Amino acid sequence: MNTNQPKKKNGYIPHKAAAEFKPTHDWSKEEAEEMFLERQYSFDVDQVIFGDCIQELRKLPPESVDIVVADPPFGLNFGEMEILYNRNSDLVAKGYQDVEIKDYSSFCKSWIKEIPRVLKEDAGVWIFSGWTNLVDILNALKESNLKLINDIIWKYQFGVFTQRKFVTSHYHILFAVKDEKKYFFNKVEHYPLDVWEINRGYDRGKKKNATKLPLQVVQRCIDFGSEPGDLILDPFMGNGTTATAALSSYRHFLGFEINQTLNEIIAKNILDITLGQDYVPYRKRPDELVKRARQKFKK
Ligand SMILES: C[S@@+](CC[C@H](N)C(=O)[O-])C[C@H]1O[C@@H](n2cnc3c(N)ncnc32)[C@H](O)[C@@H]1O
Repeated sequence: MNTNQPKKKNGYIPHKAAAEFKPTHDWSKEEAEEMFLERQYSFDVDQVIFGDCIQELRKLPPESVDIVVADPPFGLNFGEMEILYNRNSDLVAKGYQDVEIKDYSSFCKSWIKEIPRVLKEDAGVWIFSGWTNLVDILNALKESNLKLINDIIWKYQFGVFTQRKFVTSHYHILFAVKDEKKYFFNKVEHYPLDVWEINRGYDRGKKKNATKLPLQVVQRCIDFGSEPGDLILDPFMGNGTTATAALSSYRHFLGFEINQTLNEIIAKNILDITLGQDYVPYRKRPDELVKRARQKFKK
């Protein structure tokens, strides 16, 4: 008799569900590549348009986008602050466009109002926000009739040193949808928590705007919120992280960015990526719980 086998308690076998976990949707690398290559759009995709996202959003056809990943300016006067955070100011891209705090609430309402029209029925939006202006994003989502599904805490490894308060080391990622009954969610992990611990990169010696997100955090939004071939829209493209996350996962992208000086940085970041380079079928990237359960059941 195998004594390692977990015992059955009132019909419940601990860890069995984890051992048997299968993602809701999954594709081999070949299938994912084919889905990417076959998908057609009636407008140009896989490009960054330099302009104001509110104007550009208005030009998109209705129901044309599968998922929005948005990392808007936080209204923290970051353009000046990022020079303080970076020892070498030559490596900070110029022209970061922030929004004054007094205008932040109306700014959030103006761009979020444009989102529902361009979303497909089953689409979702993932919005990054610090805690200080979170209320403005929440109010704008409500006003635009987008339904909040999760408030994910992204915990990173360092924040700005403080004397008389705690060091902020998290952002919020608000996951909201157009239709609570129809939205796409690929459960790619057995037990996906709403706290994500992902370190920020240092990118030593590389020119960028200092708000660059880690590729991994954007890939995670894409993994749960879309399928290969889908169109990811990023209204605030910054350094092009969403573009690289999309292409590396066999998704298409469309980005808007008001700061033309980022053109070269975005182009270089995209060129550094090979199509589908990070795509691994979800069944082959089990989370810790699933790994441990599979060992127990020798699966
Ligand atoms: C927080 S950063 C995005 C960083 C990006 N997620 C990355 O990983 O590199 C916000 C970006 O939005 C841009 N921006 C600000 N207002 C804009 C607007 N109205 N339309 C388009 N882009 C805008 C800023 O220039 C900045 O590059």
